[in-house]
Amino acid sequence: MTLASLPTPRTPDPMDAPTLRWGVMGPGWIASQFTQSLQAHTRQEVVAVGSRALPRAQEFADKHGVRTAVGSYEELAALDDVDIVYVATPHPAHLEHAILSLESGKHVIVEKPIGLSAGQAREIAAVAQRTGLYCAEALWTMFLPKWDVVRQVVELGGIGEITSVHSDYGESFPDGHRVFDPALAGGPLLDLGIYPLAFVTSLLGPYESIAALGQPDPHGVNGQLGAAMTHAGGTLSVISTTLHGFLANQVTIVGTEGVLTVEPTHHSPGPLTLRYADRTLTYDEAPGNQASGLHFQAVEAVRRIAAAETQTPLWTLDDSVVALEASDEIRRQIGDDLTAAGLHE
Ligand SMILES: NC(=O)c1ccc[n+]([C@@H]2O[C@H](COP(=O)([O-])OP(=O)(O)OC[C@H]3O[C@@H](n4cnc5c(N)ncnc54)[C@H](OP(=O)(O)O)[C@@H]3O)[C@@H](O)[C@H]2O)c1
Repeated sequence: MTLASLPTPRTPDPMDAPTLRWGVMGPGWIASQFTQSLQAHTRQEVVAVGSRALPRAQEFADKHGVRTAVGSYEELAALDDVDIVYVATPHPAHLEHAILSLESGKHVIVEKPIGLSAGQAREIAAVAQRTGLYCAEALWTMFLPKWDVVRQVVELGGIGEITSVHSDYGESFPDGHRVFDPALAGGPLLDLGIYPLAFVTSLLGPYESIAALGQPDPHGVNGQLGAAMTHAGGTLSVISTTLHGFLANQVTIVGTEGVLTVEPTHHSPGPLTLRYADRTLTYDEAPGNQASGLHFQAVEAVRRIAAAETQTPLWTLDDSVVALEASDEIRRQIGDDLTAAGLHE
């Protein structure tokens, strides 16, 4: 079935969500973007921030008007006036900090990747299930209005049967960035490649087989890789990711009736294009960045918590596991062994 026009997003107004009190764990770059996004676009209150060093928490608190700063993550998780924690520490700390938050009785959203491996994601999911608290990976694209349009186009059969999905993600980083640090699980896959993996597995399901190749970066992490995967129903996905420069950074979803493109930059707010043989439809959305889009995942959490739900159907913990299973197999094939850097997978 071809569509006459693209559907409109069903995403509720972020301003309508009830207010929860948020604690930010790790006052780094993304935490700053997240806080700005919440403060600009929602009625959520960022009430506390925790750092390994009190002066860094205080600096963040002063910059963003956050009332409480504490000098350890344990103190943050223990605060009575925090309802939900946003874990924004580097990837290898996500497992520990997600579990710390849940065991302290706090709902939690955890920056991507939720863990270094599918096994870590399962560990977090088990604690979330036992504690009965909300838990989700902060895979923010899945919560953007434009991704709801993608979902509807696919559900309506607007591109027919999907036959393949293609996605890449490359960026440049300054020297000294954590993506070059083996001890912080550097390399493009867990930082950037997790998006293409999420896109293809959400559209095609778990991988059935993978063929991956990679090349190292001089800093001792993987520098670039490509992977082709087969999925159920005779479908195919192709992903690539690199630390060495900007790629197209888009998603192309090929169907029997048409081709849907999530235009650059795929993971941020922005437009979509649906091409049929005889015409082109567009979803026009102003391109945005983290500060204009990270709040959608937060208000989704708030709504689910208000409804006494512990996960979101927009990106379940099983979805996180499925994407990380592909990551695990890619890392195995390219020899990207995180335990060599002293990390526990
Ligand atoms: N959704 C997105 O668009 C997006 C974008 C960028 C990053 N991220 C994710 O967010 C996470 C953080 O990334 P970021 O770019 O914000 O990193 P960042 O600027 O380096 O901040 C990370 C924070 O974690 C804390 N931390 C705890 N243990 C640490 C350690 N061993 N080494 C360094 N810092 C440590 C630090 O705060 P204290 O030392 O003060 O406690 C630091 O401020 C990553 O997992 C990344 O994948 C998501």
